Amino acid sequence: MEEEIKKIKEKAIEEISQISDLLSLENLKRKYLGRKGLLREILQKITQLPEKERPKIGKLINQIKTDLEKIIEEKKTSIYSLESKVEKIFDFTLPPQKIFFGHLHPITQVKNEVTEIFQSMGFEVLEGPEVETDWYNFEALNMPIEHPARDVWDTFYINQKSKIKNSKLLLRTHTSNMQVRVMEKRKPPLRICVIGKCFRHEATDQTHEHTLYQIEGFAVDEKISLANLIYTIKNFLNALYKKEIKIRIRPGYFPFVEPGIEIDMRCENCQGRGCSVCKNSGWIEILGAGMIHPKVFESAGYPKGKYTGFAFGVGLDRLVMMLYKIDDIRWLHSGDLRFIHQF
Ligand code: PHE
Repeated sequence: MEEEIKKIKEKAIEEISQISDLLSLENLKRKYLGRKGLLREILQKITQLPEKERPKIGKLINQIKTDLEKIIEEKKTSIYSLESKVEKIFDFTLPPQKIFFGHLHPITQVKNEVTEIFQSMGFEVLEGPEVETDWYNFEALNMPIEHPARDVWDTFYINQKSKIKNSKLLLRTHTSNMQVRVMEKRKPPLRICVIGKCFRHEATDQTHEHTLYQIEGFAVDEKISLANLIYTIKNFLNALYKKEIKIRIRPGYFPFVEPGIEIDMRCENCQGRGCSVCKNSGWIEILGAGMIHPKVFESAGYPKGKYTGFAFGVGLDRLVMMLYKIDDIRWLHSGDLRFIHQF
């Protein structure tokens, strides 16, 4: 038994040497010296010994108990002095650093709102790929290679081809890329809204960025008309701005619609009086739209002449600018916290 007791002592000393915090030291003290500790356990076994040996062993246990207590106390003092050194490095009396809580970017906030509005009008909201094939971005939309309209949507090309029609890969220039992607898979009636990032090879200025968000809406069925399109746009703008928004409609050309229109909204920055945002015209062009071209239905494999549909594309960034009266689109992607924290 003497051997056993000595071993306990050795083990305790070794464990103490490895400890560097007060909590572990406290736990160790409990393990060896506590009410249910190892030394107490062995003390209880003393009755099994011949009477003669008991005082000797009892004394030994007590001695070890005192020794361990002393070692633990010493260890405690050394841990304390270590911690006070740490306190000298970190001044805990200094005021804490201010914590800034993050929040959603204004584009994301408006994107979420737009999603809700279109869902309430019965549209399904999708995203679609940002790296796209030449086919879905251009060709399927009645813009074969060398079509002059492609100039307006110059983009960034990727040095790799897709398995889809061996088509070149590029960064999509508009969310219209989803028109044929969706139609190919589904039959009308369709009411689809696509919100996502698009890219253009642009010389950037106050109202143009190389990266922008677009909202595409399209509806396809047997009797969709231009009136349905205009009603949808008006409803959407009024819901977003929570007031009656003045719009004007002009003819416009996009190869994937016929007839094509462009919709301007009155500049909310100057209430139509004229400012640098609207280039003094009082109007901001926000939207291209029209009736889906038969060639697009053909690309999707729909039967000739069976369906009609409308499509529109809105720049989300411009809507955000109008909503918050932001005078330069470049703020939106600048990552400048002085700007972001205002929303
Ligand atoms: N995709 C066009 C653009 O990026 C907008 C548009 C969408 C026009 C749908 C007509 C129909 O400018």
